[in-house]
Amino acid sequence: MKTIVLGGDGFCGWPTSLHLSKNGHEVIIVDNLSRRNIDNELEAGSLTPIAPMGQRLAAWKEVTGKEIAFRNIDVAQDYAALLELLQTEKPDAVVHFAEQRAAPYSMKSSWHKRYTVDNNVNATNNLLAAIVESGQDIHLVHLGTMGVYGYGTAGMKIPEGYLDVEVTTDEGERVQQKILYPTNPGSIYHMTKTLDQLLFAYYAKNDDMRITDLHQGIVWGTNTPETKLDERLINRFDYDGDYGTVLNRFLMQAAVDHPLTVHGTGGQTRAFIHITDTVKCVELALANPPQRGDKVKILNQMTETHRVRDLAELIARLSGAEVAYVTNPRREDAENDLHVRNDLFLDLGLEPTTLEAGLLSEVTDVARRYRDRADLSKVPARSTWTRAQKPGVPDQVRKAEPV
Ligand SMILES: NC(=O)c1ccc[n+]([C@@H]2O[C@H](COP(=O)([O-])OP(=O)(O)OC[C@H]3O[C@@H](n4cnc5c(N)ncnc54)[C@H](O)[C@@H]3O)[C@@H](O)[C@H]2O)c1
Repeated sequence: MKTIVLGGDGFCGWPTSLHLSKNGHEVIIVDNLSRRNIDNELEAGSLTPIAPMGQRLAAWKEVTGKEIAFRNIDVAQDYAALLELLQTEKPDAVVHFAEQRAAPYSMKSSWHKRYTVDNNVNATNNLLAAIVESGQDIHLVHLGTMGVYGYGTAGMKIPEGYLDVEVTTDEGERVQQKILYPTNPGSIYHMTKTLDQLLFAYYAKNDDMRITDLHQGIVWGTNTPETKLDERLINRFDYDGDYGTVLNRFLMQAAVDHPLTVHGTGGQTRAFIHITDTVKCVELALANPPQRGDKVKILNQMTETHRVRDLAELIARLSGAEVAYVTNPRREDAENDLHVRNDLFLDLGLEPTTLEAGLLSEVTDVARRYRDRADLSKVPARSTWTRAQKPGVPDQVRKAEPV
């Protein structure tokens, strides 16, 4: 199968590209390296020493004999190059990771909000329009987020994308329907993913496109069997206040004896998945496409849920680190329960890597090994969700604006 991986230089895209290449896919990576430029902007880099793309691909060829091609294209801006690539390469599938993916980064300023919306929504719409214009029957697999659902329900488990509803017509007839689960995004980033969802629904209906949307939980861990083959293949590990996702941030903090910073009460419950399972899920999704004319196939790509303070306490027990409760920069419920269905991937044969089994090796193998590269000044989250939460905002403004 020929597969183009958009965003293939990123945290999820790189190990996915290697895994697909190892398992026989002909892989072409497309990336505009914007994530590496954001490292420059934030003056915060990956904890692990990631090699430039040319070295990564040369190392993969040296170690496995397999070739992966690379094209530097901005998918959100350079529609012509994207279309030309689809027309010449004629891929069977495109995996779409190429979006700005950090909620705190998307909330930093009006510039960052506008960049995230422009980049993410244009990238998705350009890809959809280009597949239609190419006239090919290409399966699109997109990485979405569990955050499109919000983090509360009426008490039932969050279903996989669709909600069964019953409405009563004016004539009193009761009609059953399946609708997209109502979205409830918690940041501009999450909002772009809800807009992606509508674009997918529209193109699947109008153009009979085959689309799989993976609503992924927070990814933890660093390496997969393929990225461990050679240090030049190592995956990125973000720990800074904008890009470091909660569990990886705790792991790194534990490794450098920094208190584990829990936002608010730590009562937020979130869904998680290990990076090794992410790459397996994408492979499973590619092998099980929807049919033309089907509605978008939505799968919840997560394996377990945890309350943030329980995670902090677990890592504190394993590592001896302290836990520090700090002001929550986000606007969200202090406490929530989360119950999620993930039967579709389990039915396809996914055997989850559990937190219990993987945590300790992650702390020792990666976080401790590269601890000297950490810049601790980058650890605190400085992005706030509302103007009233920003340091230095006068009290009268703080009172007038809800937080
Ligand atoms: N990391 C997580 O915990 C997580 C959780 C849920 C969903 N996801 C989703 O998975 C996808 C990948 O996430 P990640 O953690 O690998 O992010 P990442 O930032 O590490 O990787 C994204 C890659 O896409 C590239 N990119 C961005 N905009 C582009 C554009 N316009 N043209 C070409 N390339 C572009 C970046 O340079 C980067 O290499 C994202 O869409 C994200 O929303 C990630």
